This record gives sequence, C-alpha cells and structure tokens, in this order.
Amino acid sequence: MRKLVYYVAATVDGFIAGPRGEFDFFPMHSDLLAAMNAEQPETVPTAFRAQAGLADAPNLRFDTVLMGRGTYEPALKEGITSPYAHLRQYVFSRTLAATDPEVEIVTDDPVGFVQRLKQQPGKDIWLCGGGSLAGQLLPEIDELMVKRYPVMVGSGIPMFDAPFRPAPLSVAGTRTFGSGASVVTYTWA
Ligand SMILES: NC(=O)c1ccc[n+]([C@@H]2O[C@H](COP(=O)([O-])OP(=O)(O)OC[C@H]3O[C@@H](n4cnc5c(N)ncnc54)[C@H](OP(=O)(O)O)[C@@H]3O)[C@@H](O)[C@H]2O)c1
Repeated sequence: MRKLVYYVAATVDGFIAGPRGEFDFFPMHSDLLAAMNAEQPETVPTAFRAQAGLADAPNLRFDTVLMGRGTYEPALKEGITSPYAHLRQYVFSRTLAATDPEVEIVTDDPVGFVQRLKQQPGKDIWLCGGGSLAGQLLPEIDELMVKRYPVMVGSGIPMFDAPFRPAPLSVAGTRTFGSGASVVTYTWA
C-alpha cells in the first residue's frame, strides 16, 4: 500500500515556519539541496524546477501532495495556483473556493480521505504540511522525514499541532551533511 510521508524542513527546536509564516531563516545548504533534488525532485515546486535542472525530472517517490490551506496560501498570494503541477494536488480547506483545475480543494475529514487515497494505486503520498494538517493526520503518517537545519527560532508554527501524547519512534535512516543539516527518517516503533 502507498505510504503517507511527512517530508518537512524543521528547525532544531521543531518549527517549520516562524509565527507569521517566515521561512527565510532556513539556510539554503547546497549539499542538502543537491541530495534532495536528486532523490525527491518532485518536491521542488514547479516554478523552480527549470532553474534546478529538473524541468523534465520524473516523479521518483511521490505522485501526490497534500497541503493545508496555510501551506498553499503563500504560493497563492504570489499568483501561483498550481505549485506542484507535476503532482496530484489536494488542498484541505473549508474556506477556499476553487483556485485551479489542477488543485482539488478537500473539505472531508483528512484521516478518512487519506485512508481512501492509500487504497488507490500509485506512488507514495507526500504530506507537505503544515502543522495543523499534520497534527490531524498523525495516525495515518507512515514515515516522517525531517530535514533538520542547524537553526533555532524560539517560536513559530510547530511541525505538529497535536495534543500531548508521547510516542516512541524508530530511526529508519540518518544522513548528515557537511553544512550541519541532517535528514532523519522516522517510523513508528
Ligand atoms: N518547513 C516546511 O517544510 C514547511 C512545509 C509546509 C508548510 N510550512 C509552513 O507552515 C505554515 C502553515 O502551517 P499551518 O499549520 O499554519 O497550516 P496548514 O496545516 O498548512 O493549514 C491549515 C488550514 O488547513 C485547513 N484544514 C485544516 N484541517 C482541516 C480539515 N479537517 N478539513 C478541511 N480543512 C482543514 C484549514 O483551512 P481553512 O481555514 O481554509 O478551512 C486550516 O486553516 C506556512 O507558514 C508554511 O509555509 C513549512
């Protein structure tokens, strides 16, 4: 069955964006960027694929992306209505009207929706974010892939907006980069 993978960039203190959605504090480490572009080219937004030499790159791991409205909105504000045109795009929102024929707005319960998606054939499903959607989808996340950058912000949008519920995880893989960033893959213990 296809997996739901939360693949996300985070600070050392567990934030995926600043309190107002800031993200320019994430350093652009070329070693991590090169590895990720090679291994998950489909996670590069359509607008940046040509300049990254990925214009025609095939989808290697994911063919579907899930976003909360808070994750989709920064692109929308820039006039980009289809940020990952090479993927099937689902945006969860109860307030957004249709924005683009390539983007499906979902009002259903995220857990049930993902359970149905997993029954369909296809590659793995990328949960792009954000913390609110990830918190609700926690029971359906099969793998957590954290790109951890050596930076702290103190407060912001957490990786998960979820109740206090400790859960042991297994580390399925760790990679560290000369720049100080790491990519750690976790599964449920
Ligand atoms: N560092 C990274 O890799 C990374 C990745 C992704 C996102 N981000 C950042 O994270 C921030 C967004 O995260 P967030 O936690 O604030 O928001 P979010 O999870 O992206 O979106 C929250 C919105 O999703 C909709 N939603 C949530 N639950 C729903 C449900 N059950 N049914 C239907 N719609 C539902 C609601 O939209 P409505 O209010 O319209 O109903 C809600 O306001 C942004 O700043 C983004 O840039 C960072």
